[in-house]
Formats: sequence, structure tokens, C-alpha cells
Amino acid sequence: MDQFLIQGGIPLSGEVQVSGAKNSALKLLIASLLCEGRHYFRNVPNLVDIHSTAKLLETLGVKTFFENDLFICDVGPAQQTLAHYDLVRKMRASILVLGPLLTKYGRAQVSLPGGCAIGNRPIDLHIEALRQMGAEITIEEGYVHARASRLKGTKILFDQVTVGGTENVLMAAVLAEGKTVIENAAKEPEIVDLANFLITLGAKIKGQGTSCIEIEGVNSLRASGKEYVVMPDRIEAGTLLLAGAITGGRVKVQQAPPFHLEALFSKLREAGFKIVEEADGVTLESPSGGHRAVDVTTAPYPHFPTDLQAQFMALMCFAHGTSVITETVFENRFMHVPELMRMGADITSKSRVAVVRGRPRGLTGAPVMATDLRASASLVLAGLAAQGQTTVNRIYHLDRGYERLEQKLQCLGAKVERIAT
Ligand code: UD1
Repeated sequence: MDQFLIQGGIPLSGEVQVSGAKNSALKLLIASLLCEGRHYFRNVPNLVDIHSTAKLLETLGVKTFFENDLFICDVGPAQQTLAHYDLVRKMRASILVLGPLLTKYGRAQVSLPGGCAIGNRPIDLHIEALRQMGAEITIEEGYVHARASRLKGTKILFDQVTVGGTENVLMAAVLAEGKTVIENAAKEPEIVDLANFLITLGAKIKGQGTSCIEIEGVNSLRASGKEYVVMPDRIEAGTLLLAGAITGGRVKVQQAPPFHLEALFSKLREAGFKIVEEADGVTLESPSGGHRAVDVTTAPYPHFPTDLQAQFMALMCFAHGTSVITETVFENRFMHVPELMRMGADITSKSRVAVVRGRPRGLTGAPVMATDLRASASLVLAGLAAQGQTTVNRIYHLDRGYERLEQKLQCLGAKVERIAT
């Protein structure tokens, strides 16, 4: 298990390029299941989660490979429809094969993903929506067994905004009979990317990026033969900007998608940072004399993303004043709190609220343990700004979602090394 060794206290400066979005690429690759032929994707990040998805697709009869910078999914006619526990448990997003398999082949058997570090993460909303579209679904021996001769379009009203649920239904609806309307749909940019890709296959979709998505089912889809470019990773971009902020530096993240990070930018500006949004990227400049504490509440897009909550909390540990951070999306997403406290952070947390009393004079380096993907990123950021040496253990969590993070930070002047243990 590799570790990161970080010598903190160096203000980051320079420019760095953001990778393709993990949370979009995963769904695009899975969506290729919906029609036979070769699908070409550019800007797919080289990440553990992408390799896990490729492995899962291989077991479903899809050939996947990188050819230079292109990721290719070659979908043949004879598909398997069983997604094994061993693969699904490694990556919860695997549950998203349920909708495409069911709508294309009339059946699917997909392992239940199980809980994870940031909460129970049930899939009841996915299942209920597919049932409303006419699927017969049972849960037996840890697997979701789903059948439908052909799904039928209907009106789905999600009780709660769910990114994965919206995506599963969206993919199922493109081949369903008639019109599906998803109300209270998630509005995340990754959903827009998925819908845009499905449209290149011949799907009829309107309203992506709003809370009401309309899908007119078609009888079949066709691989476009064209390259589809995965959108930039807004969470990686936000993390790199926060790395600049926490070290009191000045960084430009090239290709950072400005519109997708408005909630973060507004909080950074409130804290005293200067943010310049340009067509080719976003630049962050730190205020002299340190930054102010600001309160943050996470919520579905376009509000402050839960996937940047841990990294923002690390920034608040160094602020002038006290910040209240409220997590409304997941029930157990403060795993980084005890680790930040090992570095001297002053945080009280209860349930979904954390009160962070900033220490403008900083934290001190310490050995810490990564617990989940974004919590790991927050520990790396804290290590970059802390005095002395920080060792972040279990960085395999980071490798699931950040492509060459240590190299990107090094190119901004950070002293961070990967140690194989
Ligand atoms: C996706 C992202 C994840 C991000 C999250 C919220 C991917 C691969 N992951 O996760 O990085 O943090 O969106 O922006 O894209 N819920 C239910 N029942 C369901 C489905 C969800 O109760 O059937 C709950 C979840 O437990 C959670 C909330 O709804 O509390 C939001 O979850 P959801 O939006 O579905 O997150 P994911 O798609 O799993």
C-alpha cells in the first residue's frame, strides 16, 4: 500500500492541467453497453475506478482497451447480463449497469453494492423507478434480479435528488417504449455529459441539466463511430485550486470548467481569495495575511458539492475565525475530522455538522490515514500547508479518483513523494 510523504509549508504556484472527469467517464463507458459497435472516448482518466469499470464491462462481453489516447469499448452482439459481487463491491457505480442491461437485454443480475465509508448508500430509488417502468425486480442472495420484456416510459418523481438513480433511469429510458419524464432529476454536469453522449447514439433526450428530463424511447441506438470527449473533472479542478488556496499560493488550473464550480468560487471569494475565470482555465490568488472562515452547506448541484466538502474543511482549518460545515448529502462524511485533528485542527463535529475553529498559524505534519477518496484529498491538502512532514497512508483511495496527483502537485512546486510500502 503506497503512502504519500509530504513536506508542508510551501506556497504552490504555476499551472496544471485537469484530467477528464472520473464521474462522467465511468457512466459513458457503461452507457456503451446500450448498443453494439465501437465507441471511442477521449480524455478518459487513467484511474483505478476506470480499470475496475473496464474489468466489469469485459465480464459483460465488451472488449475495452486504450489505443494511444483513445479509450475504446468494442461491444459485441452476445452479451452477458450478470455483474458479479467481486467487481461491484470494488466500485459502487457498477450498479449503473442495471438500467442499460435491463433495457437492452430484458434481464440483468447485478450484485448489491453494499455500504461504504461515507454511508449506507442504498439503491432503493433506482429499483423503485425501474419497477415503475415495468421491471420485475427481486433481491435474492445479495443480487438484484431484474426482468422486463420491454420497459415502458412513465413519469418518475424521485423523492430525493440522486445522481446515480437519475443516470440509471436515463439509460434505461432511452430504449424504453414511449416517453419517460424524470422529475426532481439530478442536475449535475456529469448527467449532461451522459445525456449528450446518448444523443450521439440516437437517443432522444431533452432537459438534461434541469430538474425535469424527458426521454422519448427509441427502438435501437447506433454507435456514432466518432470520438466523444469526456468533460473535465470539476472535483479534481476544485481540489487543485484548494491546494493553491491552502498553501497561500497562486495556481492556474487549465481547462477547469468555470461554470461547474460557481458554488466553490463564491465561497472562496467570500474567504478572501481572488478567482479569475478565463476560457482556458481558472486562476486562484491567495490574499496576503491569510483567509477568512466561511460557512458551507453541501447540497446537490448547483450547490456546494459534497465531493469538495473534506478539502474545503482542510482549508478552513487554516482560516481566521470559525466556520460551520454542514453535510446534507451523505450521513457519514466526516471521516477526515479525526485525522485532521491529529494534525492539530480544532474541530467539533456532531452528526452532519462540523464546527472548525481556524488556526491561522497552521497545523503540524503527522502520520494520517486516508479513509475514502475525498477525505484522502483533504489530508493531502492539509499536509501541503502544515509545518513539517505528513505521511498519508492508504492512498489507494486517492488513486481511485485522482490521476497522477503527486505529479500534478509537484509541478506546482509541492514536495510530495509516493513511497511504495
Ligand atoms: C454520485 C457520485 C459521488 C457524489 C454523489 C453526490 C459517482 C460515481 N459518484 O454518487 O461522487 O458524492 O453523486 O453528488 O458519480 N440515495 C438513496 N437511495 C438511492 C440512491 C441514493 O437514499 O437509491 C441517497 C444516498 O445515500 C445519498 C443521496 O441519496 O445520501 C445522494 O446519493 P446519489 O446522488 O445517488 O450519489 P451517487 O450517485 O451514489
